[in-house]
Amino acid sequence: MKVLVIGGGAREHALCRSLSLDPDVTALHCAPGNAGIAEVAEVHQVDALDGTAVAGLAASLGADLVVVGPEAPLVAGVADALRERGFPVFGPSAQAAELEGSKAFAKDVMAAAGVPTARAYVCTTPAEIDAALDAFGAPYVVKDDGLAAGKGVVVTGDLAAAREHALACGRVVIEEFLDGPEVSLFAVTDGETVVPLQPAQDFKRALDGDEGPNTGGMGAYSPLPWADPKLVDEVLQTVLQPTVDELRRRGTPFSGLLYAGLAITSRGVRVIEFNARFGDPETQVVLARLQTPLAGLLHAAATGTLASLPPLRWSDGAAVTVVVASHNYPGTPRTGDVIEGLAEAAELDDAYVLHAGTAHDAEGRVVSAGGRVLSVTATGPDLGTARTRAYAAVSRIDLPGSHHRTDIAARAAEGL
Ligand code: AMP
Ligand code: GLY
Repeated sequence: MKVLVIGGGAREHALCRSLSLDPDVTALHCAPGNAGIAEVAEVHQVDALDGTAVAGLAASLGADLVVVGPEAPLVAGVADALRERGFPVFGPSAQAAELEGSKAFAKDVMAAAGVPTARAYVCTTPAEIDAALDAFGAPYVVKDDGLAAGKGVVVTGDLAAAREHALACGRVVIEEFLDGPEVSLFAVTDGETVVPLQPAQDFKRALDGDEGPNTGGMGAYSPLPWADPKLVDEVLQTVLQPTVDELRRRGTPFSGLLYAGLAITSRGVRVIEFNARFGDPETQVVLARLQTPLAGLLHAAATGTLASLPPLRWSDGAAVTVVVASHNYPGTPRTGDVIEGLAEAAELDDAYVLHAGTAHDAEGRVVSAGGRVLSVTATGPDLGTARTRAYAAVSRIDLPGSHHRTDIAARAAEGL
């Protein structure tokens, strides 16, 4: 099978790594890729938001499967353009991707499907905003309706700050605060059959102890020893399957990766958000534990044949990933710093470095090219071992001005 992956972050590096280990994959391409992906796939330049250009690339490569990684091309209709040209695609249509592209649309689908989520008001005027903030009280949860690359959500006890963000948004969703640990649960679906993956936990805040600003994610681990073993089944029945069924009923079936961001509250599981693609950095740890070859799974989703796939196989062990971010991330990150120690980190057993924002400079050195630069991933028989291995690899890497959290999976490894 010839596979083309669209994207160029650590999620796509993780996807490419797993695909490169799949014996059914005869050729692996990625566009635009990054310096790390170039070691496992042939990289191509393409405007990932241009469906015609992506379909042209897929045609020139004779791709048997195209996997669209990030949300922006999905919301822009790149999967539609590929399907129109007859390519099997892993990734939803633009209409189905509105589940991520519009928080108001997601709320509407959840209401119709009876999916438990935070109570919310969709507001467009200052009067509606004030009424909604007043109705829920602090802590305030204010979400820009549209895609905002992880920066559209403000959770704050400060009414003035909540109001300021809401007024800056245009259309805004103001909702009830959900208390309790967060879980990311991914499901692969062909629009009808839903196959949940193993849950993971992401660390959204920039600093240790969940302090500092929100980010795209600073690390992740899987499995979750503290979670109820029935959680996946419950979320399949109450969240994932009803959502997929509702989108099919509306004539806009969701085919691809449905990501449920969940809060485990004292009153039960609630959906915080849906995404229409693999999460980053959770994908790095989920795929590290998946033993079923990836290409066959994604191809079955793309061709509507998931129902005939045997159950997924998972390693019993654990995986941890630690994100190394550039100076000043999540503000305007500094780029162009030379990354040293990648070869030294690669010598360690059961640890590997996935690249996010990296590129080659004119001298062929690997340099930082984005906010999240590396996602250092390790596996082990338990979380404590995986964590130790991941941090051993992080310590070998030198990126001037970089920062990373030191507490990824720390509490879970201690059984807390
Ligand atoms: P989102 O972009 O919707 O994932 O939101 C980013 C982060 O904001 C989430 O991971 C949560 O930590 C937090 N958040 C979002 N919605 C809520 C909510 N209703 N209650 C509490 N925290 C929330
Ligand atoms: N890790 C959060 C996300 O991918 O949206």
